[in-house]
This record gives sequence, structure tokens and C-alpha cells, in this order.
Amino acid sequence: MKTSKRAEAVQPFLVMDMMREASRLERSGIDIVHMEVGQPSGGPARKVIEAAQAALKTERLGYVDALGIPPLRERIARHYKETYDVEVSPERVIVTTGSSAAFLLAFTACFDRGQKVGLATPGYPAYRNILKATDLDVVDIPTSAENRWAPTVEDVKGRGLDGLLVASPANPTGTMLPPKDLAALVTASRDAGVRFISDEIYHELTWGVPQATALQFDQDAIIINSFSKYYCMTGWRVGWMVVPESLIRPLECLSQNLYISTPAISQYAALAAFGAREELDQRKAVYATNREYLMTELPRIGIDKFTPVDGAFYIYADVSKYTNDSLDFTTRMLKQAGVATTTGLDFDPYEGHRHIRMSFAGSLAEMKEAVKRLGAWL
Ligand SMILES: Cc1ncc(COP(=O)(O)O)c(C=O)c1O
Repeated sequence: MKTSKRAEAVQPFLVMDMMREASRLERSGIDIVHMEVGQPSGGPARKVIEAAQAALKTERLGYVDALGIPPLRERIARHYKETYDVEVSPERVIVTTGSSAAFLLAFTACFDRGQKVGLATPGYPAYRNILKATDLDVVDIPTSAENRWAPTVEDVKGRGLDGLLVASPANPTGTMLPPKDLAALVTASRDAGVRFISDEIYHELTWGVPQATALQFDQDAIIINSFSKYYCMTGWRVGWMVVPESLIRPLECLSQNLYISTPAISQYAALAAFGAREELDQRKAVYATNREYLMTELPRIGIDKFTPVDGAFYIYADVSKYTNDSLDFTTRMLKQAGVATTTGLDFDPYEGHRHIRMSFAGSLAEMKEAVKRLGAWL
């Protein structure tokens, strides 16, 4: 029996391969500094753990509403008022099994086979692979360091797009669209009949640049967010979408059939995350220190070509002075220096061979160790 062409088109998520290899080396007793995965090292806040423990005792934790437990949907809606001064009714909030599921739901609900969705290159690889798995056409929009790796209003036109997916802060580059540029992109998309999908998973993790949600500029934009990053809940698999009213019922039907519901325990725990800002901001302060440290120290050891990081916890560096094959470079770096990073090929099939991504979501001690090891290795 054959595998489907759709499945064959899906590329491996190389960072996960790197993580597996790094763990294998660790199990054989080799010390590895992890800068490969975008995973907060701290784990969830204390209040989140306590809420999960309480839910184990008091809740049935069976199937729940496909669109999410009502208190969590209400709390997320309130988050939009508090953070962005935008009114959102709780009905428009849909809880998902991580933002990963939200992409699948959004693509399935918004587009038909063969429709075209624009993606900034470099960008998060799962966008491209989920689009391929759902038989949609990926339209690569090349970006550059000069325009902070973001698509422009001109990019919306002339490509026959049905949708445009933008992340700000972006992965892998950490760059952000200033609110006025995001507004212009959202408006241009709406005017051109292009569905705007905004991946806001790195909101709250910004380093001095103001953040805006696409909802501020268009209530019909699809917003995707998650408890994985700022809220440090990667493994709990809980995220959310804010959608226009017309999509609520179609998304409910899709969720019911694809997943039934997001794990109940994760939802009760996520509810508590909104009350844990103090602890989460302490984690954020660690990333801020790491960012300052790496932006000063990496150039000293020779990694000197990257855009300043506005948000998220990544540095996307051009390493072409060392290699034209960043997959081989990161593999050798892991084996010889004990530092795990990610090849740019995960994010950009065209220029990624000249780039690597380094995550600074670990501790300052780990960043210092990485710089020491790389300084000796490069
Ligand atoms: C830009 C971006 N979007 C979405 C995700 C998926 O996150 P999750 O499914 O954990 O919410 C990630 C994970 O690294 C990411 O970097």
C-alpha cells in the first residue's frame, strides 16, 4: 500500500530530530547545552500546578465542551480587554490542543483544496507542513533582514492569495511588526479579500517593542495563541483562537470530530496561569538577561550577523562565514561542542543552509556555557 502524496510532502521537523539526538547523547553521559527547542526551561507557574492538583481531586476530567470550558473561554476574552483594550465575546474564543491544533482547524475551516496561503520565509515550519497536509498551496513570501523579516503591504497583492499567515514576534527571527505596519498589513489583506491569520504565540515576550493584536485592526482576523510560551506550558497542549462569529459553529463541528475536546486538566490549569503573572514575569526577566548577554557575547566569538531580537527567545544568525551547510554545522556543533541549536533549513528551504537558530529560553548559566564552548569550537 502506498503513503498519500500529502503525507509524503510533509517534511521532518528538524528541530525535533535535533532534540532526539541531543537526548540520546545525554543518555550516554555527554553534557549538552540546549538551545535547540523553543521551550521555556522553567516549567509552569506554581499556581498552575496547584490548580491541576486541585482539578484532579474535584473535577471529573472527562470530555468537555469541544470549544473549551466556559470559565477559560471567559477568562481569555477578558485577557483581550485587559491587555489590548479590545472587546471579545467569550463565544468567539475557542480553546485548542495547543496552537498547533488551531492551525489545522483554521486552515480546514477557512480554505478549500488548492487555495493559496502566503507565508513569510523564514518562518515556523509547521505552517508549511500543515498546509501541505491539508492540500493547500503554500505561497512563499521571501523576506529579508532589511525589512525585519516581515511581509509588506506590497506582498499581499499580485500573488492570488486566499490567506496570509503572519507571526509577530516571529519565529525564528524574533522580529516584530510595529503596530502601524501590522495595521497596514491587516487592512490591505481585508481589502484584498485575503483571510488574515495572526500567530500571536510570542505575545507578552517582547523586549521593548510594543505588541498589538490583529484584532485591534480587524475583528474578522483569526487570532491564534497558546499557553506554551509566556505561560511556560508546552507539554500541557493548550492554546486558543479568537474567530469571527461565522466560524464558531464550523470550528465546533471540526473540533468535535478531530479531537472531541482539549484535555480538561490542562484547561483548569491554564485558567490559573492568568493569575501567575508575577512568577511568569520573573521567568521573562531571565530571558531578557540572556538576550542582552548573547547579543553582546555572540559577536565577540564570531557569530555577529543577526537582526536585533524584538520578541520571543530566538536569535537567527547568518553563519555563512563558517558554512554553507547549516545542517552539517549544527550536527557537528552538537557532537563536538555539546551545544544543540537548529539548522535554518527548518525555517527556510531556500536560504536556511546559511543560518542557525539559537533559543535563549534556558538559564543564564547555560547561555554562558554555550558561549564558552562555541568560542573554543568555532
Ligand atoms: C511560531 C510558533 N507557532 C506555533 C507553535 C506551536 O506551539 P504550541 O502548539 O505548543 O502552541 C510554535 C512552537 O514552537 C511556534 O514557534
